[in-house]
Amino acid sequence: MKLGFIGTGALASAIVTGLKSVADNDVPVHLSPRNEAIAADLASRFPDVRVAADNQAVLDACDTIMLAVRPQIAHDVLSGLRFRPDHRIISLIATLSREEIAALVSPAERVTKALPMPMVAQRQGPTIIYPPDPDVVAFFGRLGKAIAVADVGEFDALSVATATFATYFKYLDTLHGWLQGHGVADPTARDYVAALFKALAHAPEAAPDADFMHLAQEYATRGGINEQVLRELTDRKLFETFAESLDGVHRRITTP
Ligand SMILES: NC(=O)c1ccc[n+]([C@@H]2O[C@H](COP(=O)([O-])OP(=O)(O)OC[C@H]3O[C@@H](n4cnc5c(N)ncnc54)[C@H](OP(=O)(O)O)[C@@H]3O)[C@@H](O)[C@H]2O)c1
Repeated sequence: MKLGFIGTGALASAIVTGLKSVADNDVPVHLSPRNEAIAADLASRFPDVRVAADNQAVLDACDTIMLAVRPQIAHDVLSGLRFRPDHRIISLIATLSREEIAALVSPAERVTKALPMPMVAQRQGPTIIYPPDPDVVAFFGRLGKAIAVADVGEFDALSVATATFATYFKYLDTLHGWLQGHGVADPTARDYVAALFKALAHAPEAAPDADFMHLAQEYATRGGINEQVLRELTDRKLFETFAESLDGVHRRITTP
C-alpha cells in the first residue's frame, strides 16, 4: 500500500501517528501540503512520510487515498483532481455520502467511508467502515477496533454515537465540580474521577454477555445510593431527553 492524504489536518495527523507507531509497518505516506505545519511536523517525525508538491502529486504517487478535508471544501478540492480507476478511496468526510464521494472521484470505483476517532493516534477506539472492505478493515484494525457494516443506515446510526463525547466529559465535570464544592481538592478529585471511570469502562469487556442495563442493575442495589441517583434522573426524564437529542442528531445527518 502507498497511502496518500488529501487534507493533512487533525484526523490525518492522528492516523499517521497511529500507523507509524505500529512496529512492523512499511507503508509509505504522501501528504498534501496543507496544513503546512502539520505536514512538515509529520514528515520530520517519520522517515517514510513525505509532503507532496500538491494534491495531484499525492494521487499520482499513491494507490490508496484518504480524503480528509472538511466537507465545505470537498467539492471544490476533489473536482479539480484526476483520479485513476485503480485508486482505492477511503473518505473520512463525515457528512458526505458514499455516492457523493463516488461521483467526485470517478473513475475510481472502490470507495469506502470510514469514521475513525482522534484516539487512533494511540491505536485506540473504534472506526466504523461502510461498506465492508477487507483491506480497509485490516488497516483500521491495527489502529484500534474496526467495525464494518453493510447497511448505510447502520453506519449513520453509529455515527450519531460520536456526538456524545462532550456530554460524557460534562458528566465527569459535574461530578468533579461537586467533589471540589464539598472540599475535595485537586489532584485528588480529578484523579478519583478519572480512575473511577477508567475502571468502569472495562466492565463491558469483562462481562461480554451482559447488556448495559444489566450492568446498571448490578450496581443499583435495591435501596442503595446508585439506585437512588438512577431513579431520580430517570424520573426527571434525563435519559428520555438524551435519546431525543440523539434523534435530533440522526435527523440532522440523514436529511439531505
Ligand atoms: N477530527 C475528528 O475527530 C474527525 C472525526 C471523524 C471525521 N472527521 C472528518 O475528517 C475530515 C477532516 O477533519 P479534521 O478534523 O482533520 O479537519 P482539519 O483539522 O480542519 O483538517 C482539514 C485540513 O484540510 C486542509 N486543506 C484546506 N484546503 C485544502 C486543499 N485545497 N487541499 C488539501 N487540503 C486542504 C486544511 O489545511 P489548512 O489548515 O491549511 O486550511 C486542514 O489542515 C472532515 O471532513 C471531518 O468531517 C473528523
